Amino acid sequence: MEIQAMVEAARPVFIGPCNRPISEQGDPAAYLRSEFDVAPALTSAVLYVTALGIVEPYVNGTRVGDEVLEPGWTSYRHRLVVRSHDISGLLKQGLNAFGAVVGEGWALGRIGDATIGHRRIFADRAALLAAIELRYPDRVEFVATDGRFRAGEGSVRSNGIYDGVTIDAQLEPEGWSEPGFDDSAWGAVEPIARDVSALVAPVGPPIRRIEELAPVKVWSSEAGTVVVDFGQNISGWVRLRLSGRAGDTITVRHAEVLVDGVPDYTTLRSARATDRFVLRGSGTEEFEPRFTFHGFRYAEIEGLSGPLDPGDARAVVIHSDMARTGWFETSNAQVNRLHENVVWSMRDNFVGVPTDCPQRDERLGWTGDINAFSPTACYLYDVRGVLESWLADLAAEQRAFGFVPYVVPYVLGAWNAPTALWSDVAVSLPWNLYWEYGDEAILRRSYESMVSFIGSVEGLLDSHGLWSSGFQFGDWLDPDAPMRSPARGKTDGHLVASAFFTKVAREMAETARVLGHSDDAQRFSDLADRVRNAFRSEYVSHNGRVVNESPTAYALAIEFGLLDHGQLVKAGERLADLVRRANYKIATGFAGTPHIAHALTRTGHTEDAYRLLLREEQPSFLYPVLQGATTIWERWDALLPDGSVNPSGMTSLNHYALGSIAHWLHTVVAGLEATSPGYETIRIAPQPGGSLTHVGAAHDTVRGRVSVEWRREPGTMSVSVAVPSGTTAVVELPHHPSRASHVVREGAHSWTYEIAQRANRLTVESPVRDLLDDPGTWAAISAVLSEDLPDLGLRRLAEGNKDRPLSQFLDDLPGISGALRDKLASVLASL
Ligand code: BGC
Repeated sequence: MEIQAMVEAARPVFIGPCNRPISEQGDPAAYLRSEFDVAPALTSAVLYVTALGIVEPYVNGTRVGDEVLEPGWTSYRHRLVVRSHDISGLLKQGLNAFGAVVGEGWALGRIGDATIGHRRIFADRAALLAAIELRYPDRVEFVATDGRFRAGEGSVRSNGIYDGVTIDAQLEPEGWSEPGFDDSAWGAVEPIARDVSALVAPVGPPIRRIEELAPVKVWSSEAGTVVVDFGQNISGWVRLRLSGRAGDTITVRHAEVLVDGVPDYTTLRSARATDRFVLRGSGTEEFEPRFTFHGFRYAEIEGLSGPLDPGDARAVVIHSDMARTGWFETSNAQVNRLHENVVWSMRDNFVGVPTDCPQRDERLGWTGDINAFSPTACYLYDVRGVLESWLADLAAEQRAFGFVPYVVPYVLGAWNAPTALWSDVAVSLPWNLYWEYGDEAILRRSYESMVSFIGSVEGLLDSHGLWSSGFQFGDWLDPDAPMRSPARGKTDGHLVASAFFTKVAREMAETARVLGHSDDAQRFSDLADRVRNAFRSEYVSHNGRVVNESPTAYALAIEFGLLDHGQLVKAGERLADLVRRANYKIATGFAGTPHIAHALTRTGHTEDAYRLLLREEQPSFLYPVLQGATTIWERWDALLPDGSVNPSGMTSLNHYALGSIAHWLHTVVAGLEATSPGYETIRIAPQPGGSLTHVGAAHDTVRGRVSVEWRREPGTMSVSVAVPSGTTAVVELPHHPSRASHVVREGAHSWTYEIAQRANRLTVESPVRDLLDDPGTWAAISAVLSEDLPDLGLRRLAEGNKDRPLSQFLDDLPGISGALRDKLASVLASL
């Protein structure tokens, strides 16, 4: 049944414990219950439930459904999701009971950091709304939340998204959600005035327990605590099987990282991320947190009565239950781990809302982060539900407040001038979703919000047509920005702003065209031209230099169509030169990172993009991987080379934005790219490079699975693709002598052909620097040398000889025989 029809028919009211606005310190979760009759011949029953707070519904003593953190987080002022559950199997003829525990969640608990955070942002007390629809052969009846409910307390003594939960098992009232429970000592409820027109059906999938991880290591710390390593940074919590005396308290703290072997809590800032379990003392008891979640890899446990059996601890991974749609793997284990880290950061940050991070006192729907990451996200998972729900929130907030908030749901107060990459998500995200799923309705639903955003910036343009005033995040977290001023990177924030505005004005014009609004299409296209011209006069030289001469400035100018053909060539050369001169150190932040490798590829410098990808020293994509990262870090130097946490105060180890490099992996390294919305036409054009010898990728598009696999052997290349029905793919075979492209349709196709040896092959005459920069090649060299010459400290020696050819460097090493040189030469030739 539609939600508003149900509201009309059942007339449920929001209820909460009488007289109990939530206190500053937080309160025990509210337990609410009522009983009702079921007549004979019931055919089906559905529970509709929501809360201001987080709700756990029960019927006749059984927890309803498998959702957690229900009803999830939306902009509650405008959209409060009502979830529904089939409870036919839980009811019986006669007396039944319905109960719900309501915790603080996002509506009541603290949201935001220690300075700007507040409690009670969306409501001042826990409130439940529910209705049970009872269907009989001849009629429908409803039981709904009303003044007859009773309110009590139970084992959940305190709970908060950031701070954790305290569960005292001794205080759980036995049988409280079953019929016949004596609730005479409980209090009354009162109705809570709240606009029911905000009640909506879910657009996104529920949050569920998705996976469980066993400990990879358990040990005792010097402080007497037990530390558990689950091997992966996740969003979720720890489930424990415990035994002990009544009243024993077990405390679990969560950390992303060990520093000097000890859990380090710096990355959490003021989030306490601490769960406490008080035992009932009757045999083995199982505890699992509720009404909270943590971003962690390690758990530090205190208060155990004996050693922890690893079988008694599990990390429970939770996130929005989305279907996986994208896979990618290569012959290089480090690149694979990098990609795996991107996937994990996405999973960990899609907990209802697309967030910046899952661990610290933030976890907010930061607009810029998802804007940078959304093309990657669309490849990896079916994100329609989560992101369309979020866009509906964005549009509702924008309508109410007149601007696109930096975070959606909006919780940050007045700080909200439009800024590039953040606020323009209003246009780029619907556009990306349309491109992925080919569904015009996505654009239609967002059209008003998109147009309104464009108008808000158009009014700010200067007389030349540039977005040249106001605050900008710029190339946020450029590694060269001062540690505590991440917005002050090398690239002028207003150059970034005008570049992005040209791009979004173009997307807007295309959107209007798709929807048949031809006047708007012309208007936005003129606007895009105007800003582009202004950008070119202000920032681009006649020959194609872009002021700032920074990788981000070049990458944006190249990728956003701001240069003409001649300028493009020059700009590409300048960009490649900058990247080389920096020795492939990454030099971009949130704005430039999604585009830098693409810009190198577009201008014919793919091999440099590979070097950028494969560099190991800090700052680089692989540095975190080599430091043992299992997720993408917020900043390039989140952990310093000595293993300590960057002291900037803004150091999450789990932010997906810089993981946007995966889009280049999917579309260039694997070469899978839609050339029309919804993959009606596909380009499959892998571009092998670096030391990779094999890549496989698959993507479940709305038309079915497209996949590609390429393998490079000395002198031979093989490529296999599979294309779904209803699509046409143009396959461009890499290094094929004829350079011809092949048009293929549904089915599997493969090619094997001879290729010329690579012109830029690394040989024994290559500089040691180049060999070190190519992790696969260096690994192969080390493997050959260490067979015969163990304990050489090879890497350290090589680092001191970077500028010499390998052959000369070998001259200085003891025991290098002619045979060993030959072997090295042939290994290099085979790569
Ligand atoms: C968040 C970012 C966000 C930024 C912008 C940070 O605290 O974690 O990812 O985009 O603030 O101010």
